[in-house]
Amino acid sequence: MTARDTASPTAGRPAPAFYDEVDTPALVLDKAKLTRNIRTMADFVAGGPAQLRPHAKTHKCVEIARLQLDAGAVGITCAKVGEAEALADGGIADILIANEIVGPLKLARLVELAKRCTITVAVDDAGNVRQLSKAAVAAGVILRCYVEVNVGMDRCGVEPGAPALALVRQVVAADGLAFCGLQAYEGHLQNLMPFEERRARTEIDMRKALAAKDFIEAAGLRVDQISGCGTGTHTITGRLLWMTELQCGSYATMDAQYAAVGGADYENALTVLLTVISRPRPGRAIVDGGLKSITAEFGDPTVLVEGATWFDFSEEHGEIRLEGSAEELRVGDKIELIPRHGCTTVNLYDRYHVVEDGVLTDVWRVAARGRSQ
Ligand SMILES: Cc1ncc(COP(=O)(O)O)c(C=O)c1O
Repeated sequence: MTARDTASPTAGRPAPAFYDEVDTPALVLDKAKLTRNIRTMADFVAGGPAQLRPHAKTHKCVEIARLQLDAGAVGITCAKVGEAEALADGGIADILIANEIVGPLKLARLVELAKRCTITVAVDDAGNVRQLSKAAVAAGVILRCYVEVNVGMDRCGVEPGAPALALVRQVVAADGLAFCGLQAYEGHLQNLMPFEERRARTEIDMRKALAAKDFIEAAGLRVDQISGCGTGTHTITGRLLWMTELQCGSYATMDAQYAAVGGADYENALTVLLTVISRPRPGRAIVDGGLKSITAEFGDPTVLVEGATWFDFSEEHGEIRLEGSAEELRVGDKIELIPRHGCTTVNLYDRYHVVEDGVLTDVWRVAARGRSQ
């Protein structure tokens, strides 16, 4: 008898062995799928012009970052100083904070971090550049800088052309800073459907990054890097000859949103395990996880039981609609769900339960959980 056969059944099916070992709500990571996703992206990147610097805002985990580096990534991307600190504590040595870092309290931490690892940071403001320069000089460190250009997302970033050139000139002239290139993130296009429209718009918008580079180089300054890209556009942006660095993140664990918009090359490695705590009436199951256990961002999670669909969230409960064989679900049964958005779900948990072939083999810390400062 295998370990699998001993676990409690779910809707009449034998449950994986780890269901009996892991209490709920819990984050579960299928290591084989994770490893295949990391390999698939590494192979894709190996065939193109750019290098991979995967975004860790999704997984927030040192062990996963190490697997990505072992597969050839040149460094790791973060969104926050706190995430970078957590990864540096885990031994990650080269980190891009793909975000503007503002204010004396954060700059003090940023320059401390730069004493123990290579730090690159995004900038889009002259005053912030002055503050970064002052902090770097006082600490005796060099901060690498990407000038962020707006390629259509209309979030952070200066406009390509004269505004980008002016800021680059300021960074180049600033003590304690090293101008290393441009950040151009096409976040507004990651989910655009149909895919052919995503392709066309990405090619148009990422051309703005090339135009920004050409404009700056025409003024006699070198632009070594253009960094950007996400999971949803990687097959497009990752083949543009002027891109040097790809920041894709979600591909490693995936989620139901990216699966819905065409991430077919990558598998859902991330699930949330919940327990049925009530069967109040036919056609309904109540589980022990709601908004505090799985994100409602982008829509409902996918329930991995045939005939079961997510119906509603409350704080600590989830309501699930049952049809057909799903009616066999009983109080005490455990079920898995794929979150609609991985990034905001992972941030709700302290640890991943790492599963191989249905067996719990490891527990990994979500080391940067909640590190949003
Ligand atoms: C600056 C930046 N780069 C890259 C990404 C790509 O992440 P993903 O591949 O998860 O879409 C994001 C996502 O929000 C981002 O904000």
